[in-house]
Amino acid sequence: MAAPVARGGSVTRRLLRGVSRGLSGAGAPAEEPEAALVNVVFVDREGRQVPVRGRVGDNVLHLAQRHGLELEGACEASLACSTCHVYISEPHLGRLPAPDEREEDLLDQAPLLQENSRLGCQLRLSPALEGARIALPRLTRNFYVDGHVPKPH
Ligand code: FES
Repeated sequence: MAAPVARGGSVTRRLLRGVSRGLSGAGAPAEEPEAALVNVVFVDREGRQVPVRGRVGDNVLHLAQRHGLELEGACEASLACSTCHVYISEPHLGRLPAPDEREEDLLDQAPLLQENSRLGCQLRLSPALEGARIALPRLTRNFYVDGHVPKPH
């Protein structure tokens, strides 16, 4: 009988392959293992596409802000507004953990709600989002704090 394989073994193998590639060649800088990187395309409010490569675990709100997208995040990811509202492409949306009740409640208050709406601050990059299009709605409503302008992280 074959020995059981630990969950995520293939990811570990890909990580190890990436590390060994990064170490090959004298003096070559170590490269980020491919398995630890995720490519997404943000689509801004004017429809412009902004390809972004982030790391597994990056917060989608903060990643968007670091790349100059106008995703407000008024409550600074404390799950108290909906200004980080985004649309996630299929099939990527279906691969994500379902939103919890608080996220659902906030999404219900977001303008221009769609079936594929999520709060960007509640999403972390993972291989499930490889190739995803993350679009900003044409408008958001800040019912958290009028006039509060958060600083990007
Ligand atoms: S930044 Fe306020 S809920 Fe995401």
